[in-house]
Amino acid sequence: MDKREQMSIVVLGHVDHGKSTVIGRLLADTGSLPQGKLEQIKAFCERNARPFEYAFVLDALKDEQAQGITIDTARCFFKTTLRDYIIIDAPGHMEFLKNMITGAARAEAALLVIDAHEGIAENSRKHGYLASLLGINQFVVLVNKMDLISYDRGIFEEIRETYTSFLARLNIHPQGFVPICAREGENIVRRSERMPWYEGPCVLDYIDSFTGSGEKEDKPFRFPLQDVYRFTEEKDDRRIFAGTVESGRIRVGEEVIFLPSQKKSKIKSIEGFNALPRQEIAAGYATGFTLEEEIYVRPGEIMCKVGESLCHVSSRLRANIFWMGRAPMIKGKKYKLKLTTHRAFVQLVEILKVTDAADLSHYGGKQQLDRYEVAECILETTKPIAFDCITESEATGRFVIVDHYEISGGGIIMEALDDRETSLHEHIRRREFSWEKGSVSPADRERRYHHRAKFIVFTGSPESKKREIAKHLEKTLFEENYLAYYLGVESLKIGLEADVSDLQEHREEHIRRLGELARIITDSGMIFITAVDDVDDYDLEILKKLNAPQEILVVNIGKSDLASFRPDFHIEETADVKGAVKAVLSLLRREAIIPDYTI
Ligand code: GTP
Ligand code: MG
Repeated sequence: MDKREQMSIVVLGHVDHGKSTVIGRLLADTGSLPQGKLEQIKAFCERNARPFEYAFVLDALKDEQAQGITIDTARCFFKTTLRDYIIIDAPGHMEFLKNMITGAARAEAALLVIDAHEGIAENSRKHGYLASLLGINQFVVLVNKMDLISYDRGIFEEIRETYTSFLARLNIHPQGFVPICAREGENIVRRSERMPWYEGPCVLDYIDSFTGSGEKEDKPFRFPLQDVYRFTEEKDDRRIFAGTVESGRIRVGEEVIFLPSQKKSKIKSIEGFNALPRQEIAAGYATGFTLEEEIYVRPGEIMCKVGESLCHVSSRLRANIFWMGRAPMIKGKKYKLKLTTHRAFVQLVEILKVTDAADLSHYGGKQQLDRYEVAECILETTKPIAFDCITESEATGRFVIVDHYEISGGGIIMEALDDRETSLHEHIRRREFSWEKGSVSPADRERRYHHRAKFIVFTGSPESKKREIAKHLEKTLFEENYLAYYLGVESLKIGLEADVSDLQEHREEHIRRLGELARIITDSGMIFITAVDDVDDYDLEILKKLNAPQEILVVNIGKSDLASFRPDFHIEETADVKGAVKAVLSLLRREAIIPDYTI
């Protein structure tokens, strides 16, 4: 049997404008109510001398579902021949926003109900804003209670015009406006005879015309890398890239790219846990891949398929955050961001607009985000990360923010921003501006030490002899009377919390410290040497920027799997340590770091 498509729709609108009546009508008129339910409610009303209301349908269902316990977001279901719908009636903004932003619930479209007689009210505006905060881009406005204004076209058009221009400012462009009378069912599931002037679709047709987010398998391939396992048993040196396919599908032989590192390879095999290898795999499965080319990538990267639309890669993004931490979210402070399997340091750099989640009032000019506030803001990660916008992909378009080991905020990504001007640049500008110079100039030092300063970084696979080479270079330079100093990245780790699960973030911090140290050591006139494992383009860019205005020299041992960063020098993996050091020394002479003669 074919799986039926499902879609969630939220119904918004001001108090008493008729949200529940619209929902009750949709359920009743599509024949989605349990048999006899409507009659039962009508009889109940009659017995209690109350006029029947379609809104009671919801209450009746709610009571049944919750058995007396109030539920936060009432959900009910109806189906058309096209698909199954989940309708969300959102009474409390707070819970609703929290659920929608943290991913507990998701609406793919919204119906906004406006009372024609009362016109555009406070919540008509606030809910428009709410929809834009949540990135809901399918939107239909229902102008209800047309009976109270004698089905007057003029008033309808007026509401349409005013509200359209209001929504346009929020960048919401509704699919349409429908004049309805929910109580009588006019224009709900069939066109009304009372409003012959309206020639557009009825509410149900609009609902069926919304585009579903589609089946996850049909979307671009996304595989956030969870871990890389290495099998060391009996000559089995396979490395298995493990994780869960979030969307799309992939076959053996297809080309993949890891983001943000941009490293490419091809799928060699698809491994199952306790299952036979297969040729193809799709969304929803936890699996492992082996790759044709051995590349070094870190957990947290997202594997995409070459030829499909790829994730964004940036360190700056515009996001909407729901903050629930007891302590406020403060600008400039470092927090941990978790996006699927990725962990990164993030900071709030700008608050564009803050909304109170309880009453949806908004205000600007804030420097921090307090509990239960929702903010449109600009975030910056220490290093570029890979992600999607929420409208493109559910799993890779949302994140949580951790403060003091507690999840303190949830966010959805609205836009990838240009990250050429980041706070790193700002930091470097400030650092250089306030740099307190000593009275010895770099030229004085060069004359005294007989060489120039340089930051030499050795890269290459973990198996390469880069450390040995780097240390041997230090020794040789020292013996030739040059000031050279080797520092391993490991030495920077002491003093940091040794929490294994946090290693990924700490790496960013190690790179940052290394860069700052390099700036100081090279300023002292020394040749500063280090060797780092598994670097990617961004690490080297950061080291280069942090070390500026001094120069960096990147020497790669063996095959480089850097994506676009060009190392200054290559040494064969097979080269012996002495030969490699000799080659680096002659490079240093050619570049006039050390003189062309020996003293
Ligand atoms: P809250 O949940 O309290 O925010 O209200 P709501 O938006 O769900 O409104 P509801 O559906 O409960 O309707 C409010 C009142 O408006 C009820 O008394 C309905 O009978 C009435 N109403 C709903 N639709 C129509 C309509 O098309 N015409 C008229 N005249 N009254 C309507
Ligand atoms: Mg209601």
